[in-house]
Amino acid sequence: MDITKQHIQKENKFSAQNYHPLPVVLTEGKGVFVWDVDKKKYFDFLSAYSAVNQGHCHPKIVKALIDQSSKLGLTSRAFHSEAFVEFSEYITNYFGFDKVLPMNTGAEAVETAIKIARKWGYEKKGIPSNNAKIIVCGDNFHGRTITIISASNDPDAKGNFGPYTPGISSIPYNNLKCLKTALIDFNVAAFLVEPIQGEAGVFLPDEGYLMEAFKICKENNVLFIADEVQTGIARTGKLLACDHENVKPDILILGKAISGGLYPVSCVLADNHIMEVITPGTHGSTYGGNPIACAVVTAALKVVKDECLAEKAEKLGVFLREELRKINSDMIKLVRGKGLLNAIVIQPKNGKEAWDVCLKMAENGLLAKPTHGDIIRFAPPLVITREELKQCVGIIKQSILSFE
Ligand SMILES: Cc1ncc(COP(=O)(O)O)c(C=O)c1O
Repeated sequence: MDITKQHIQKENKFSAQNYHPLPVVLTEGKGVFVWDVDKKKYFDFLSAYSAVNQGHCHPKIVKALIDQSSKLGLTSRAFHSEAFVEFSEYITNYFGFDKVLPMNTGAEAVETAIKIARKWGYEKKGIPSNNAKIIVCGDNFHGRTITIISASNDPDAKGNFGPYTPGISSIPYNNLKCLKTALIDFNVAAFLVEPIQGEAGVFLPDEGYLMEAFKICKENNVLFIADEVQTGIARTGKLLACDHENVKPDILILGKAISGGLYPVSCVLADNHIMEVITPGTHGSTYGGNPIACAVVTAALKVVKDECLAEKAEKLGVFLREELRKINSDMIKLVRGKGLLNAIVIQPKNGKEAWDVCLKMAENGLLAKPTHGDIIRFAPPLVITREELKQCVGIIKQSILSFE
């Protein structure tokens, strides 16, 4: 049996089966490339769900990780650390907020934002105790905790995990009328939204949706919470996807690429009048804001600016979509996206579906993954060059046309 099959069998034996990975076993990564156990080289067109925007093992981020981990790894927040002080100043200036609250995973940051919003609802807005509501959108993806899946309508994410957390109502995405109606209820503390729905299949709302939604929130004294865990950090062609509409969320949730794929770090940013509801003992995390995380984030965010990754994503995204639209196959029903967060919708042909297209692309040296059956997301590291992107389009074209 070949080595890839052996590894996969072992994983299947010892690991919970909560993912359905493509049958490749990776051992190395550098920039836009990853290598498998047979030393086969691939373009990474998923970037760990947009966590590796700066490219695999970026030398400056690796250096920050090594330097800090050889100096001081973990203090907990029981004591101050120099790295945390520097990180807090850097990240709040970088995104233009008064305060940061660090956590580890995207889901934890979403939980944190919901907790802040509820507390703000009681202590600042005057919502009667235990009545706060959070409005979310249909087909959202905010993570995997019980509260977050309570906000989901995905049967796989939700089934048999009840009872669910109360106080969450869902409205259709990209529907301002429903938002207006939902926010009439005084007990609504916050509206939680992804500026582009990534996991759902890269769904872009209408132009102006975010700005209008923000205005409706303001008219009703409701917090606008942007979950930019996937769309943030230059992925969509601006530092934040909300920047496309000049919206500054009341609460900003970040994760994934703030650490360039080298350490699990997430955070919530807000101004003082909101963040001050968090007081000692009300929230925390042992690893949240640890010195290694802080050093890694600071280095990773510097890379984003130094290498003009937002500008690159903007330009290369336009090029990628143009080139994908030129592929002459009725298997590609639709190409959509913003910056380098893109997707194609596959029309199955001769019994071949999105999964088969991904297997063929892997065979040809490009890794991407279907989401929701017929959608394939294309989200390469933002350090990719135009020439490399051209090669990738060649691989995608060759793979799809092989089914004609
Ligand atoms: C928009 C959004 N929010 C939250 C999360 C959850 O992040 P994590 O997997 O780090 O918990 C994700 C993950 O894909 C996401 O896309």
